[in-house]
Amino acid sequence: MRVAMVGSGYVGLVSGACFADFGHNVVCVDKDPDKIEALKNGKIPIYEPGLEKLVEENVRLGRLSFSIDIVAAVSAADVVFIAVGTPSRRGDGFADLSYVYSAAREIACSLTGFTVVVTKSTVPVGTGDEVERIISEANPAANVSVVSNPEFLREGAAIDDFKRPDRIVVGTNDKNAEHMMREIYRPLYLNAAPIIVTNRRTAELIKYAANAFLATKITFINEIADLCEKVGADVQEVARGIGLDKRIGAKFLHAGPGYGGSCFPKDTIALVKTAQDLGTPVRLVETVVAINEQRKRAMARKVIGACSGSVRGKTIAILGLTFKPDTDDMRDAPALSIIAALQDEGATIRAYDPEGMDTARLVLANVTYANDAYDCAQNADAIVIVTEWNAFRALDFARLRQVMKSWVMIDLRNIYKYAEVAKEQFQYVGVGTHRDTFKN
Ligand code: UDX
Ligand code: UDX
Repeated sequence: MRVAMVGSGYVGLVSGACFADFGHNVVCVDKDPDKIEALKNGKIPIYEPGLEKLVEENVRLGRLSFSIDIVAAVSAADVVFIAVGTPSRRGDGFADLSYVYSAAREIACSLTGFTVVVTKSTVPVGTGDEVERIISEANPAANVSVVSNPEFLREGAAIDDFKRPDRIVVGTNDKNAEHMMREIYRPLYLNAAPIIVTNRRTAELIKYAANAFLATKITFINEIADLCEKVGADVQEVARGIGLDKRIGAKFLHAGPGYGGSCFPKDTIALVKTAQDLGTPVRLVETVVAINEQRKRAMARKVIGACSGSVRGKTIAILGLTFKPDTDDMRDAPALSIIAALQDEGATIRAYDPEGMDTARLVLANVTYANDAYDCAQNADAIVIVTEWNAFRALDFARLRQVMKSWVMIDLRNIYKYAEVAKEQFQYVGVGTHRDTFKN
């Protein structure tokens, strides 16, 4: 099948490369000529494990190409995906749909023959109707079916998530479009990935409901973690104790500094706004949003507490800047709020991240970037693990003792155990760990 992917950002690129790998003929289009030029030269603008190899292989086999020519790509395509960004609109938090709508307008005039236009971007309920309206207004003769097909890709594991999905959601009432969507996902379908075909509005809502539920699960365990600290319980044991109940499930119960990233923060806010507008507020999600926002800054207070109540004039070493490991994405990363709050209290910040420092430089001021964890810890009064990169899981404490001013570790991802760190003569503070951990 011939596929045009409009928008070659995170989702567009991963999806395009994976569809090509399934054997389809894919053209990834983007309006940013520098991005397309770089992609043509084999340069992948984002860090995603396995993506460079997948792109290289499929380009070599002639199944994947890159272009700024949307007209040519769309007119040759059987299926056109819209995978442009849907950021939060400045000021009110609604999903900014201007990119989606302008993509729809551009696509409209180039359609030839029966074409399925698929919204992959996360969009509020009813956006598919508007995309359909825009297309038929711009090109009344177009033979088109507009489908919703939300993505559930986690950064850092996106290729695996694409190729081994828990489910595929297709929103359409049109049998022809459904048939084409089944064809495009055929390799997965043969592997028995459940495919849910439903109406378009339901598909759009499934995406928001899924992300809001996961954000709620994380926020729930984060609040339980705070309670654990007060009562002398261990949140990891609590998570295990409840997670083994199949009705609850063990995933997304890691307490930490709050969720970040390109999806949960903006999608939860967008859902809240849509629901408020329709007079059916989702109060639980409203609370989740508020708790998560406060939590990021609250993590700075944890650091300050571990530094005897003040960080003024002290050097804090931040290990990990991205919102999660295996990505260079800094969007809504907890590190941003934590660093700003520590700087407000007079701390000097040194930071290291295996992949995120180039993107971090664009959004963080007055930070000294280090070459590795030990360089970062140089003269530090405390070391703070903000992102659980593998590189931080087996630190050499003897080396840290040599370079640090005082031996304090705040582990916001619970990748260490109190006992092992205490043995290394470090004061250790985790998240939701037993209060004995605070006795040092
Ligand atoms: C995606 C989805 O679009 C979003 O809805 C989802 O919730 C998260 O993932 P992402 O791929 O991360 O967004 O966005 P981004 O990396 O910003 O990529 C968007 C790309 O589309 C950019 O390369 C941009 O240049 C391109 N674009 C945007 C177009 O080609 N045409 C446009 O009209 C607008
Ligand atoms: C998410 C969804 O998982 C994916 O299905 C959707 O399509 C896009 O958004 P992503 O944002 O890439 O993916 O990462 P995810 O692994 O879900 O983590 C999001 C945030 O939650 C990160 O900041 C992570 O650190 C945090 N998190 C996750 C926790 O704090 N605890 C957990 O148990 C899980």
